[in-house]
Amino acid sequence: MSPPSRIVIAHRGASGYLPEHTLPAYALAHGMGADYIEPDLVLTRDGHLICLHDIYLQATTNVEQVFPSRAREDGRWYAADFSLAEIRRLEARERLSNRFPRGRSRFAVPSFAEMIELVQGLNERTGRTVGIYPEIKAPAWHRAQGLPMEAALLELLERYGYRKPGAPVFVQSFEPESLKRLRALGSKLPQVLLMAEVEQYQRFLSPEGIASIAAFADGIGPAKTMLERQPELIGWARDAGLIIHPYTFRADQVPDRHGSHEAELERYLFELGVDGVFTDYPDRARAVLDDR
Ligand code: G3P
Ligand code: CA
Repeated sequence: MSPPSRIVIAHRGASGYLPEHTLPAYALAHGMGADYIEPDLVLTRDGHLICLHDIYLQATTNVEQVFPSRAREDGRWYAADFSLAEIRRLEARERLSNRFPRGRSRFAVPSFAEMIELVQGLNERTGRTVGIYPEIKAPAWHRAQGLPMEAALLELLERYGYRKPGAPVFVQSFEPESLKRLRALGSKLPQVLLMAEVEQYQRFLSPEGIASIAAFADGIGPAKTMLERQPELIGWARDAGLIIHPYTFRADQVPDRHGSHEAELERYLFELGVDGVFTDYPDRARAVLDDR
């Protein structure tokens, strides 16, 4: 695909301001000028995609209070053990102690369908076309639980009109096999392979390795530090026709060497020349891009 202009991807919604993966966080991201909004997705026991970063519930909900006896032997409450009706009984909570004050207001865990309907409704009311950027979390693990994610994802995207390569959606995963499976199921939607600084991605960190990604994806989503450490990845990706969307930019976690959040964004967007950024603070990235 041809590189789009640089985009702001609201990471877990406007999660710097409101609890991640809640409808208010997604709505705020839309209002702040995000181009795409990211839901992380997991499956419930009865096969519904819900917006949640972890395959567990305890870090961002009150599941321990509502279902005290439903943890597995490892002491964790898995979303895959709960029905959507049960998930709806939970309150969503801020993950981080330095962000939205815990215990204030009331939030819920949305389904992916509800997230899409919110974004599409806001698109209709504002005349903007904000896209969605879903990440399927731990698809191999879900498959082992008897809950394959890929067909469920495509069915929902199809239902809401995300069908063709030009649709305002990117599908992302850390697992190459899952992206290949989506292609095998016939999906022509844009796909991005996420990469972290761990051994399993070493095989991709060469011109040939990066080029091999183009067989099943349209772009890469590396941890931003991978680009600082190995900026030649960007040229290799360009040569392979891949776009580059690094993660994650956070105004409250700026590496010392950049001096400010804006300086860090400018470094990646204008010096390294990436195609977009995953950010918890979509307003700040929007302002940096609009000021150019
Ligand atoms: O999807 C990009 C980035 O969100 C990957 O990290 O852990 O925040 O999902 P994570
Ligand atoms: Ca993600």
